[in-house]
Formats: sequence, C-alpha cells, structure tokens
Amino acid sequence: MSLQIDKLKRNRMYDEFAHLWPWISAPEGYAEEARFWRDALREELGPGRHHILELGVGGGNNLSHLTKDFQATAVDLSEKMLAHSKKLNPGVEYIVGDMRTIRLDRKFKAVIIHDAISYMLTEDDLRATFATAAAHLEPGGVFITAPDWFKETFPGLRVSHKTRANAQTELTYFEYAYDSDPNDSVMETILIYFIRERGQLRVEEDLHVTGLFPIQTWVNLMTEAGFVVEKKEYPVHDDPRQAYLLAGVKTR
Ligand SMILES: C[S@@+](CC[C@H](N)C(=O)[O-])C[C@H]1O[C@@H](n2cnc3c(N)ncnc32)[C@H](O)[C@@H]1O
Repeated sequence: MSLQIDKLKRNRMYDEFAHLWPWISAPEGYAEEARFWRDALREELGPGRHHILELGVGGGNNLSHLTKDFQATAVDLSEKMLAHSKKLNPGVEYIVGDMRTIRLDRKFKAVIIHDAISYMLTEDDLRATFATAAAHLEPGGVFITAPDWFKETFPGLRVSHKTRANAQTELTYFEYAYDSDPNDSVMETILIYFIRERGQLRVEEDLHVTGLFPIQTWVNLMTEAGFVVEKKEYPVHDDPRQAYLLAGVKTR
C-alpha cells in the first residue's frame, strides 16, 4: 500500500481518534512547560486569581497546571477535545469556537494559546488570531503564545514514536514531521497509529499541517496587532521545539 500525502485524512486526532488523546498526551508531561506559563502570567499580572482565556485548549493538559492559580475560560474547535478538558478541569468555563473569529464580548486579564497556535497556516490566520486576543484584553492585558516550531528552529525532519497499553488496548504511534516545501509557510506531520483492540490491529494515518514562520514574522504581526512583544527563553524540551514563549502586552 502506498500513501500519497495529498490523499491523507487530516486532524483525525481531534475528532474520530479524540478518544485516544489521553493515551497520546498526559497532563504530567506538561508540568515543566506550565511552570513557564505560570511564571510569565504572574510576572505580567501580579498576585491574584486573575481570569484568563485559553484559545485552542485541546485536552486541557497545560491548563490543568494553571487552574490552581487562575480562573479560566477555554475555547476549542473540537467538542470531543473539550470533553477531555472538562473532565480534567471541571471548574473552567468551556465554549466551542475558532480562535480566528470567536468574540465573547468580554475582557480577560490574559489570553493564552499553547501549541494550538501551530494550526495557523497563513499570516492572515495569525493576524485574525492576534486580533481575537487583542479584542479580549484591556490595555495592559497580556497575550502569551508558543508555536511548536519556528522556521529557524525546525531541524527539517523529526521522527518519534511511543507505545501505550492497558489490558484491552495497545496504541503505538509514529510521528514523522518534515517540511515538504521550504518556500511556503507550513510544515507537515504524518502520524501512523497502530491500534490493537480485542486482538485486532488497525493501522490509520493522520496528517497535520501546521504553520512554519520566521520568528520575526511572529513579532511583526503581534506588534501590528497592538502588542509590545517579549521573546522569553522556554527551554523545556531536549530538542529546540517550543524554543520561545512570545509574551505581548496590549498597548491600545
Ligand atoms: C495539540 S491540541 C492542544 C493541546 C493542549 N495544548 C493541551 O495542553 O492539552 C491542539 C488543539 O487545537 C485545536 N484547534 C486547532 N485549530 C483551532 C482553531 N482554529 N480554533 C480553536 N481551536 C483550534 C484543536 O481542535 C486541538 O484541540
């Protein structure tokens, strides 16, 4: 069997395979990352249980380490992913929506977008999302985001795999991340899932196309949206994935 990349099914992890999410990603794995988000929020907001908005919350793993300190409202495109976050973070308010267009007619002390920002594929997607962040902040409010990869940090190819199992199910997945066209603003990650349930093995593919922009593009577009941007070191992985947190204070 050969699989052609343009024929692969996309983003199945957040829909028909969303039930596998807790196997793919567990809250414990986010403790170190979340410390940087908490410190960045505290540095900008000072003490207090401030109300923050997370866009693209997914399974709420990163958020699960912030809810002790902050009150939260969370948005995601996928109801199935929100269901995971609801279980993990029951005290949070949840809303289905697109980070590019949602308008809640409310202001928050901070807007955060963890790795979900990587699903912004064009500069116009980033502009729209930064406008959403700005629309939900008062002047002085803070917007923090961290894409998985920048044009400068992506090594060109990254391969990884994991196996998780319990008595009923075994999941092995391979992740092959590469940049099929260095002249465009996206990269591709192909996941192959080997799902063994009740003795039957299924093999399924899942293509994720994500944005790949130079650091300066991020800084320029956040500045254009009215933020004063600081690039904070974010040394949480063995490789240069998520190398920086970008923190913007809203000026107008
Ligand atoms: C990798 S998951 C996020 C995991 C999350 N950081 C955590 O700690 O559990 C990416 C999420 O981005 C969401 N997403 C992708 N595009 C989006 C958009 N335009 N608006 C809102 N959510 C989006 C997906 O539905 C998915 O749940």
